[in-house]
Amino acid sequence: MSPVLCTVAALSVLLIVVHARNSPLSIPLKQRVSTNADLVKQTLHAVSKRTVGDYTLVPETLDAGFWYGNFDVGDSKNLSLLIDTASADVAINPSLYCESPAGTNLNSSGSLGYVTVQENGCGVAEIAYSTYADTVSVAGLAAHNQTLGAVTKTTPPNNGTITQFPHDGIVGFSGVSPGDTQLGGVPFFQNLCNQGEVNECRFGLVFRTDGSGLQILGGLDAWLLGDTLEYTPANPSREFSFTGNITIDGRVVSSNQHIIPDSGTANIVAPKSELRILFAALGMQAVEQNPPGCTSVLFGYYPCDAPPGVGLTFGDDSPWFDIEPSAFQQADNGNNNCTAIITGIDFGREPVWIFGQAWFQGKYVDFDQSGKKLGVARLRGWSH
Ligand SMILES: *[C@@H]1O[C@H](CO)[C@@H](O)[C@H](O)[C@H]1NC(C)=O
Ligand SMILES: *[C@@H]1O[C@H](CO)[C@@H](O)[C@H](O)[C@H]1NC(C)=O
Ligand SMILES: *[C@@H]1O[C@H](CO)[C@@H](O)[C@H](O)[C@H]1NC(C)=O
Ligand SMILES: *[C@@H]1O[C@H](CO)[C@@H](O)[C@H](O)[C@H]1NC(C)=O
Ligand SMILES: *[C@@H]1O[C@H](CO)[C@@H](O)[C@H](O)[C@H]1NC(C)=O
Ligand SMILES: *[C@@H]1O[C@H](CO)[C@@H](O)[C@H](O)[C@H]1NC(C)=O
Repeated sequence: MSPVLCTVAALSVLLIVVHARNSPLSIPLKQRVSTNADLVKQTLHAVSKRTVGDYTLVPETLDAGFWYGNFDVGDSKNLSLLIDTASADVAINPSLYCESPAGTNLNSSGSLGYVTVQENGCGVAEIAYSTYADTVSVAGLAAHNQTLGAVTKTTPPNNGTITQFPHDGIVGFSGVSPGDTQLGGVPFFQNLCNQGEVNECRFGLVFRTDGSGLQILGGLDAWLLGDTLEYTPANPSREFSFTGNITIDGRVVSSNQHIIPDSGTANIVAPKSELRILFAALGMQAVEQNPPGCTSVLFGYYPCDAPPGVGLTFGDDSPWFDIEPSAFQQADNGNNNCTAIITGIDFGREPVWIFGQAWFQGKYVDFDQSGKKLGVARLRGWSH
């Protein structure tokens, strides 16, 4: 890596201080307009009305199918990083990483791989990196000695491959041990837990359908829940994957499926054979295509004005959690013909459903790392 010219961005952020543990934590608020301000205002209203628990709230925003939060990495301030619950590494795009005095060059390099990098679930990432350890922080919570990848600029070999991240990079929120990562080193959130930066080793994601969102770090913000959390055992070392059933209007169509809840995938990706069953049950037209980055993808078309109720359930007595009707559309083809947000892609290993951010919308999703479980509830004040 050639040396990077590092200028520290002027700090013009509005700081709101709340009490968590015994030390004040800062919540940076994006200077936002309209919709996101609404959620932040609602949340702050809540903050002023109640004793805040031992957790930190961080605003997040949606852009082109992916959610971002603002992080400091070494001496690089306020980077906009993709929030990914299905990977476990921190990596920063070419020429953005400035090593801090606490930083160490770990002298290793390689290539990071990801799938489902495009909005339709296609495409792969092959991202060349060099490793460093440095301080990575969000909203005043700092993980020291965090292993990270500084991305090296390379040319994409084809249209289906990306060689750097959108925005400024990525923070993987899954994984508990170095063995769960591609770079080695303890994953970011587990480092926050190990270093006593968060009270409880759990985080929540709240994505709304209007593109505004929040991440709750170190606890549960019960105020945001619209009903009680429904839990399933989930493996934090395996992207919080769990076993569940796929439903149409609450009725099971595919049983005992392997499901990954993935904030870093834009849509919902299904095994093709299961998706054919689902589309058939819905009376939907299914078409196979070969877009860049996929050899064969199953798309489904539905009348835009009548999105179906597709969701998942954790058990026989459990409620079901549908994709919000407004999040069901991947594309509008005109003439009341819409492409469904669920696409069929086989990854050539165990059949897996990837429930991406489109499914998270309108829900509180609680990633309880120490409890090895995933909780889901409807958001407070949410109805459709
Ligand atoms: C941080 O970056 C965001 C864009 O991601 C920008 O809107 C905001 O003003 C920046 N904050 C500071 C303090 O520079
Ligand atoms: C990386 O290489 C430099 C230069 O050879 C060396 O000084 C440093 O100790 C190495 N760092 C690690 C973590 O091995
Ligand atoms: C990549 O995309 C461009 C623009 O869409 C197209 O012209 C080109 O043929 C594509 N290349 C390959 C290898 O598919
Ligand atoms: C930094 O983390 C690595 C593992 O990621 C560990 O081997 C090393 O001892 C740590 N260094 C310090 C100073 O804590
Ligand atoms: C899935 O559905 C089957 C059949 O309805 C049921 O026996 C099983 O308990 C369900 N499992 C889950 C995890 O929902
Ligand atoms: C909907 O649009 C897609 C993409 O243009 C097309 O392949 C499909 O045949 C259309 N379906 C209907 C029912 O018009």
